[in-house]
Amino acid sequence: MELINGNEIAQHIIEELKVKVSNIHGPKPCVVFIRVGEDPASVSYVRKKEKTAASIGIKSRLKILPENITQDQLLNEVEKENQDPSVHGILVQAPLPSHIEERIIFNNVSPQKDVDGFNALNLGKLCQEQNDAFISCTPAGIIELIERKKIPTEGKHVVILGRSLIVGKPTGMLFLQKGFPGNATVTFCHSRTVDLQSYTQRADILVAAIGRPQFVTGDMVKQGATVIDVGINRIEDPSRKSGFRLIGDVHFEQVAPKAQFITPVPGGVGPMTVAMLMSNTLQAFQKSQ
Ligand code: GUN
Repeated sequence: MELINGNEIAQHIIEELKVKVSNIHGPKPCVVFIRVGEDPASVSYVRKKEKTAASIGIKSRLKILPENITQDQLLNEVEKENQDPSVHGILVQAPLPSHIEERIIFNNVSPQKDVDGFNALNLGKLCQEQNDAFISCTPAGIIELIERKKIPTEGKHVVILGRSLIVGKPTGMLFLQKGFPGNATVTFCHSRTVDLQSYTQRADILVAAIGRPQFVTGDMVKQGATVIDVGINRIEDPSRKSGFRLIGDVHFEQVAPKAQFITPVPGGVGPMTVAMLMSNTLQAFQKSQ
């Protein structure tokens, strides 16, 4: 079993980005984070993104909006950033309050500034295998891990647990693309899948993105599989200073002995998401020049 160290690989990417950003003369890349409400996980994720941007020399600005903002008001705020030429990337942190339709917000982020890759145009380009698309950060991070660890994908069976817009669907599309890392046979499983285990047991690469702590148990995994755990579940833990700890969607103790490669939580996919966001921001800046 080999642990895939996402912290180390993400840091490597960040160091590469630092060099590239330091070579930019004049105004630096700038990303705007829009956070609606005070969801503790979103507060923490956005803070991490701000810190990482600062460490690279990417400028960032955080716009905090009230939980009860209307959809139209939020669209208006997004449009202001679309129009601001000093802004290269825009990220609207999900999840949004239930009275707002995320899809409508994502589709109104300028495709040129859509560093999250959730806009219909960028998702469509991903399906068309157009390489100028912004690829959502978590799927891009997963693929980067597979690529850097040289894990074979051609002809392999990739099973994706979860069909979200943010992770499941785009990750599947990336494994399906022609070339490496791609050319895989992809199965999507979700809450209505019948006999889930019969699929997961045949996975050469299993991606768990369902948001259920320790859902994937040892008996669900094939010997020698690669297991990518995208879950970040906050479990109350009074013994910790923070009052919680993070648990993945994979039962690590049961699954790790069977896996050839496995990502830990924390320190696997999470840091990669942030690194890919920074990479997308630099790409947005370069395209704007
Ligand atoms: N919520 C969970 N992951 C993400 C992400 O990658 N981008 C945004 N905007 N929100 C998220």
